[in-house]
Amino acid sequence: MFRFTARQVWSCFCATTAFAATVEAITSPIVAKGPPCVTNNGAVQVTADCVDSTYNTVIIDAEQDFATPVAHRRVSGHFSETNIDFNIYLPKSGWDGRFFQLVYPLQNSTAEDHEIGFGADSGGYTNHVAGGGGYRADAAVAKLSRTIAARYYQSDRKIYGYIYGASGGSMVTVGAAENTFDVWQGAIPLVQAITISNPNSFCIRAMASLVLESQKEKIRDSVRPGGDGSPFSHLNALEKEVLTEVTELGLTLESFEDWEGLAGNRTNFLHTFRVLIPPTIAALDPTYVNDFWTKDGFLGTEKSDLGDFYRKSVVEFNTTVKSVLIDSAKVPVAFTLAKSPSTLPAYGLQATIKSEDGKSALGQFTIQITKGSQTAEIDPGQNTTVLAMISEDSRIQVDNRAWLAGSAYHRYQVPTQSDLYGYDYLRKADGTPKYPQRNVLIGPTIARNASGGATYTGNITTKVMVMDSLEDFDAFPWHADWYRTEVKEALGDRFGQNFRLYYTENADHYLEPVPQDQLTRIVSYHPAYEQHLRDLSAWVEKGKQPPAETTYSVSHGQIKVPASAAQRKGIQPVVVLTVSGKTQIVTMARQAVSFKAHIEVPPGTGSVTSVEWDFEGTGHFEAAGSFEKGKAVLDVTASRSYQTPGTYFAAVRVTSNRNGDANAAYAQVANLGRVRVVVN
Ligand SMILES: *[C@@H]1O[C@H](CO)[C@@H](O)[C@H](O)[C@H]1NC(C)=O
Ligand SMILES: *[C@@H]1O[C@H](CO)[C@@H](O)[C@H](O)[C@H]1NC(C)=O
Ligand SMILES: *[C@@H]1O[C@H](CO)[C@@H](O)[C@H](O)[C@H]1NC(C)=O
Ligand SMILES: *[C@@H]1O[C@H](CO)[C@@H](O)[C@H](O)[C@H]1NC(C)=O
Ligand SMILES: *[C@@H]1O[C@H](CO)[C@@H](O)[C@H](O)[C@H]1NC(C)=O
Ligand SMILES: *[C@@H]1O[C@H](CO)[C@@H](O)[C@H](O)[C@H]1NC(C)=O
Repeated sequence: MFRFTARQVWSCFCATTAFAATVEAITSPIVAKGPPCVTNNGAVQVTADCVDSTYNTVIIDAEQDFATPVAHRRVSGHFSETNIDFNIYLPKSGWDGRFFQLVYPLQNSTAEDHEIGFGADSGGYTNHVAGGGGYRADAAVAKLSRTIAARYYQSDRKIYGYIYGASGGSMVTVGAAENTFDVWQGAIPLVQAITISNPNSFCIRAMASLVLESQKEKIRDSVRPGGDGSPFSHLNALEKEVLTEVTELGLTLESFEDWEGLAGNRTNFLHTFRVLIPPTIAALDPTYVNDFWTKDGFLGTEKSDLGDFYRKSVVEFNTTVKSVLIDSAKVPVAFTLAKSPSTLPAYGLQATIKSEDGKSALGQFTIQITKGSQTAEIDPGQNTTVLAMISEDSRIQVDNRAWLAGSAYHRYQVPTQSDLYGYDYLRKADGTPKYPQRNVLIGPTIARNASGGATYTGNITTKVMVMDSLEDFDAFPWHADWYRTEVKEALGDRFGQNFRLYYTENADHYLEPVPQDQLTRIVSYHPAYEQHLRDLSAWVEKGKQPPAETTYSVSHGQIKVPASAAQRKGIQPVVVLTVSGKTQIVTMARQAVSFKAHIEVPPGTGSVTSVEWDFEGTGHFEAAGSFEKGKAVLDVTASRSYQTPGTYFAAVRVTSNRNGDANAAYAQVANLGRVRVVVN
């Protein structure tokens, strides 16, 4: 078998000027040769030349030409002896010497059409690598892709690369930005997760979910457009304490408008929390649940209203197994109970298999019981060794203690880094934690795992733009400000030449399209990062200064931005919608209501390309009236009468584009203005 190195491929195809007119298939496998990559503090340091021993042999599986979404060649391959595969999408025309690479720990190797189209429209080819290898497999593909692109485009120009990723993908991106050298020239972590995001942010949301569920309507009404903006004033002391705790730690007040997403199950939150968090805590901190309910200083034993609330929330019963249902692999999937529970908790249930004498616990897993049913369904992904112990007559204890304890875990996971300032709420004046702390901090372990070794030192080796969303209840906005400080400390006076932080208003965490029913309050952040990627490449390749960072302040765990675009900066248009000059109006059916949208695009970032209205707040937008094209600051008015009494949250959605091009398929940066209309 003929093997050659990446460098040899380069020399075969690039050292000669006479290229074949048609491209031949790449000989496979490709074995990288060079000095081994070194490891620093547990993270593999990938340079342009070194070889990562795990990802050193590539098998090219196919090369095919496609006509959509743009004419391109797709080179597909995988790393030998791994389950990581990848695709490289090379547009036939318009290539301008760069590539883009979206990363996410759980993604497969297929890029979305939109991603390939954006790359092509931005002069780039697209790399897409299956997740699971941290940044290392991505880096190996980035390096290999240069060789493949040089051959395909018959060019020896320098190729610039840009890595970006959202949420868990932001961890991979930071791993890359801190541990690779000249593999990518720029990086964009989106809706940034940091060392304390998982599991703590889930726990914080779960605490809100548990305690504030009964007050969700009042809080929602207060934070919505035209609301009184003081949700605390509607709560009792206990509820106030919890809303203070969760918002000081970073849960954004505005996001309480979407209670079902934040704390309910619309985003699968309750389900995800239940099946993921108690088992993760149990694996990494096995004595926690017991300590929570028995030891001094923990909420489970605390003499306080909140402590009482938690104890009253315990649901527990003992029973035996009547029969076990198994799947084709003989793994138990459900079992029937001798006794049906009288009450079921709103939140998670854990089952503990007891020894025959009932004294010791043999193992735990999570289950679901539907009200009135005697069948317990076992959640997918549970420990099969434990499940194998279930049999007829097994003694089972069912309770929600692990879930309850999990919803306060953040209290005992105060980061040791004092500059993670949101956690000051859980620290005393002298900086020490208010509550007893666990021996392990599990957040940094999870972050390291997802990113492939990132330690979040802020010592970035490429230019980085972070983009965060202000209504995000998964990635808390102040976390990105913290990372910015880390970079500033690490880079010193090189900071301004290498880093930007942008916040996007009325945006959430969505990696996928925003659901229809949320479109009235949330815009997709994808067009904004498309523009950031273009700004990043112009900064890297041409030294063109990107737009100024978003101006913001931090107060009580919340990020605040100025009301005018000129002050706020960044790249997102700012929209102030009013009805008769106010944020809310009370009117009568069939009476005309006049709306005015004041729109400002930050100076130097383009002009308005669309104005659409959603008068009923259903997420269905329509064009209404006209507006002057090519302007960066303008007022647009509209009028509407409502036929049916009710409360409407009317919205106007505005987009701007750097070139003022309304027909551009990408980088139409969006924002919303909203008001409340009460029709009697
Ligand atoms: C890869 O992931 C995408 C997006 O999540 C999905 O639509 C597609 O079906 C997946 N492809 C394969 C081959 O699993
Ligand atoms: C809600 O939770 C259940 C299980 O508890 C799950 O099956 C369902 O898919 C979840 N998501 C939504 C959107 O209802
Ligand atoms: C369930 O059994 C355990 C001992 O295995 C006991 O401590 C607990 O009180 C019992 N719970 C109920 C509700 O009977
Ligand atoms: C599954 O449970 C068994 C028995 O308690 C334990 O030894 C094993 O480590 C668990 N496996 C995982 C992956 O947690
Ligand atoms: C992450 O954790 C899993 C399970 O413990 C392990 O198999 C995997 O190698 C880890 N990945 C990294 C990149 O550390
Ligand atoms: C940051 O990384 C560079 C290598 O890129 C190294 O020379 C420098 O010492 C590091 N700085 C800090 C503060 O660790």
